[in-house]
Amino acid sequence: MTDPLEDARQRSGIEIRHLYKIFGTNPGRFIKRVKEGMTKEELNDRHNHVLGLQDINLSLPPGEISVIMGLSGSGKSTLIRHINGLIEPTAGEVLYEGRDVVAMKGAELREFRRTKTAMVFQKFALLPHRTVLENTLYGLDIRGVPRAEAEPVARAWIERVGLSGFEENYPNQLSGGMQQRVGLARALANDADILLMDEAFSALDPLIRMDMQKVLLELQQELQKTIIFITHDLDEALRLGDSIAILRDGKLEQVGTGQDIVLRPANDVNRGRVIRASRLARPLAEGEAPPEFRVDGYRVLERVAREMAAAGVAQATVLDRKGVATGVIDSEAILNAMVTPAEAP
Ligand SMILES: Nc1ncnc2c1ncn2[C@@H]1O[C@H](COP(=O)(O)OP(=O)(O)O)[C@@H](O)[C@H]1O
Ligand SMILES: [Mg+2]
Repeated sequence: MTDPLEDARQRSGIEIRHLYKIFGTNPGRFIKRVKEGMTKEELNDRHNHVLGLQDINLSLPPGEISVIMGLSGSGKSTLIRHINGLIEPTAGEVLYEGRDVVAMKGAELREFRRTKTAMVFQKFALLPHRTVLENTLYGLDIRGVPRAEAEPVARAWIERVGLSGFEENYPNQLSGGMQQRVGLARALANDADILLMDEAFSALDPLIRMDMQKVLLELQQELQKTIIFITHDLDEALRLGDSIAILRDGKLEQVGTGQDIVLRPANDVNRGRVIRASRLARPLAEGEAPPEFRVDGYRVLERVAREMAAAGVAQATVLDRKGVATGVIDSEAILNAMVTPAEAP
């Protein structure tokens, strides 16, 4: 038997090199000046063009979940759509198996998109007049795979995502979580190496969302797909991502593991160095025992995060200057505060 991890390492990852995207009527006119340093503001205010992506360099390793994180409008969807050639860049390369997706045209691009990539959307994008089975079959249908061959494949994936018994149901008879399972089954039925997931779980309720994260992680253990997962939620990023890339205003701000992002945030203002732990302390929940590990509330988040990481704890009791417990701090809350801009006053 082949080891799926070893197998994954033999495969191609995706290399994004010097990728720029300018939106507007004549992007080519401005690319040189943007490369020379013209800012997003200047391009927008003086020339009425939008700088969507700016000099993105990113390696997306085979068989891993690479998370792309960023606020709304930071360029996440623009970036992921370059990977399957839905958007043409103003400059740059997207390399996969030694080929540049950017240079692919017509039939070659369609073939690449159909056979190598599958996309899962936030809005499920199921066909309302097709059953679960028919929706799952859809990609195979388009590729001309005969029904007799496609159906057992689709049924197996429906079972694998936990929807056995719903094969003949229509999307509007399913909950959001179930619809997203169909979206996932459809993507997996394509047997594409690259899975592009654009805020795929963002519309789901928190509990269902965590279910789906679990489903994805379990499937990934087996499948070792190259997954690009977009989210604006740090908890989700930390749970799913083998690595996390943070986009801000079309620029890559930081790339690393969850741990890197937490302990060495690269924000312009390093919130970890200005926010004090006491600000994030929450009251103990009813019946919750106070964590044994204690931190000083007047210390800044970065310091407290280091202490907690060194002790290997995810929660700590926060003390005030007199040594009195004022609440509990969670590592996830710290991470969130460190990478998310403060709310506008
Ligand atoms: N077709 C387009 N024309 C002009 N501007 C666009 C277009 N698509 C995206 N943008 C702009 O590019 C930026 C990034 O958008 P997007 O990739 O959708 O962000 P995200 O997915 O992170 O919310 C935004 O400022 C958006 O307004
Ligand atoms: Mg988006």
